[in-house]
Amino acid sequence: MEKELESLLKEDRVFSPSAEFKKQAAVKSREEYEALYKESINNPEGFWGKVAKELHWFKEWKNVLNEDEPPAYKWFEEGKTNIAYNCVDRYIDTPKRNKAAIIWEGEPGDSRVLTYWDLYREINKCANVLRNMGVKKGDRVIIYLPMIPELAISLLACAKIGAIHSVVFAGFSAQSIKDRIMDCGATFVITADHGWRRGKLLNLKDIVDEAVTDCVNIKNMLVIKRSEHEKTSCHMQKGRDYWYADLMNDAAVTAETEEMDSEDMLFLLYTSGTTGKPKGIVHTTGGYMVYAYLTAKYIFDLKETDVYWCTADIGWITGHSYVVYGPLLNGATCLMYEGAPDYPDKARMWEIIEKYGVSIFYTAPTAIRAFMKWGDDWVKKHDISSLRLLGTVGESINPEAWMWYHRVIGNEKCPIVDTWWQTETGGIMITSLPGAVETKPGCATLPFLGIEAGILDANGQEADTGFLAVKSPWPGMLRGIYGDDERFRATYWSKWENTYFPGDGAHKDKDGYFWLLGRVDDVINVSGHRLGTSELESIFVADSVVAEAAVIGIKHEIKGQAVVAFISLKEGINGDKTLEGNLKKLISEKVGKFAMPERIIFSGELPKTRSGKIMRRLLRDIAEGRSMGNITTLADSQVVESLKEKYEED
Ligand code: PRX
Repeated sequence: MEKELESLLKEDRVFSPSAEFKKQAAVKSREEYEALYKESINNPEGFWGKVAKELHWFKEWKNVLNEDEPPAYKWFEEGKTNIAYNCVDRYIDTPKRNKAAIIWEGEPGDSRVLTYWDLYREINKCANVLRNMGVKKGDRVIIYLPMIPELAISLLACAKIGAIHSVVFAGFSAQSIKDRIMDCGATFVITADHGWRRGKLLNLKDIVDEAVTDCVNIKNMLVIKRSEHEKTSCHMQKGRDYWYADLMNDAAVTAETEEMDSEDMLFLLYTSGTTGKPKGIVHTTGGYMVYAYLTAKYIFDLKETDVYWCTADIGWITGHSYVVYGPLLNGATCLMYEGAPDYPDKARMWEIIEKYGVSIFYTAPTAIRAFMKWGDDWVKKHDISSLRLLGTVGESINPEAWMWYHRVIGNEKCPIVDTWWQTETGGIMITSLPGAVETKPGCATLPFLGIEAGILDANGQEADTGFLAVKSPWPGMLRGIYGDDERFRATYWSKWENTYFPGDGAHKDKDGYFWLLGRVDDVINVSGHRLGTSELESIFVADSVVAEAAVIGIKHEIKGQAVVAFISLKEGINGDKTLEGNLKKLISEKVGKFAMPERIIFSGELPKTRSGKIMRRLLRDIAEGRSMGNITTLADSQVVESLKEKYEED
């Protein structure tokens, strides 16, 4: 990390969008961006009100923004709308009904194209199935599915009837599903018999069955059949579990749309924080919709003819906002791919781009680093000249990977939008508008319209390097942590007054560009997946052989960060390879494979400060092989370390 930070801040290469790209872009110049930005900050209500009018409202709002009781901000109060209606229904009487909404490719090579009309009928049928099974407005529905069209359909069907969806990424364990079901009081699960991953069938229904053992609140399960293999068919509990296809066959193709209050809850999405328990981030209807719409429109510069591919899984926020809602709100054609990027071989992504003529490609630095390692020859096997715009999300991209992406994938002609945001922000917050802003490798660049971003020190004073801050509300902002208002206020709103604290360190350069420096709290970022170190620590210490545990993230060539656990064992317990294997397995079972530690280091005692806090900085030095007395003199790594220390002292 330190080397990357150093090179990041020394980076002085600047790239301009081509004249050709600028000419066709929605925002064509820096001046145009500045004028829009100024308008959005000086008159946020006027600005967002105008944007909201580009969408359908059953009833117009009374106030664009109510900021009487921060941080309980309300957007488009008293307005009535429905996001699923805006994604699909409003096109049904226009020529767009025949346009491809979702182009889907399954891992084994099967594919489906759903036009807006097809999607409309599927969502309506699914909405009717849910209603017929007793799901009502406000009910919480857990969705645990592979990347198949029914995943997008399920989200939109929930939204159509006003049920609150909570998608659980299909790599999470039974225990994680159970924790989420219990936390939000879900009554219904949508899942599939199986999912494909690298040619193997994952038994998703079995995992859900394990999760719902003694969860009495789950009344029904809707099960989508992904696998044709009769002999692998899963257990169905009579009276509780129903096959999706059977019920869809009999469902009506039109469905009433629930007219939602702008501030009615749309979805919950769990993410890791600094305490042991994941938090259910609450997003509501109107503001999230307007923000997802405008960010997708300007940042991906969506055009009628684009084939847009965001590779994120819908189980994460990127998939919610930029696989499903944002692009569909703009009437775009979205590509969805079910499987692994290297199956059956390492050319799969480029083969898909060629096959469907993908023009916009949005992925994560961890994927880019893997592609880079696999080599240019895989890319050269295919004609990917249809690409016109590239994007990245999830962590800072190292300049080397940025340059490779620019040169090999973008053929030096595609702008790259590096998009900083979070589950909590609902949509992209810091990025370049691709036709308007010059880019620097590794830099997220400038705030999006309406986003008053700044860098503050612990006392709230402006600084060049410090904590990233958002000084005024924006429509896509989280409205709370489900069932825990106190944690919501303490986590995001207590550092400074009426200013949002995202938990990232940042630096602003002489051109006003924002460089993101990583998390300052105990959240680590493994392949773009957020993990709370204390969440993992509490799993370790619950095991009978463990006395104490400290989990840290260390630099990893492909994943960005990898999990390392320092464990002190109870008296008489021997820390050998078998125990290491068992403890790694424990994390995989309790959270999911993606959270499995790279290394476990057994240690007699963990280093602590006099006040008893574990000295994580020291552990990071040990794990990354730096000698303790000789802490690197890299100015910027010290900055991040000292920010972290300040944060830990708070
Ligand atoms: O540290 C930032 C990092 O990912 C965190 C948010 O994680 P999550 O809620 O899982 O959402 C990920 C996808 C939006 C942030 O606090 N992060 C995300 N994008 C970037 C980033 N760090 C640097 N540059 C980015 N482009």
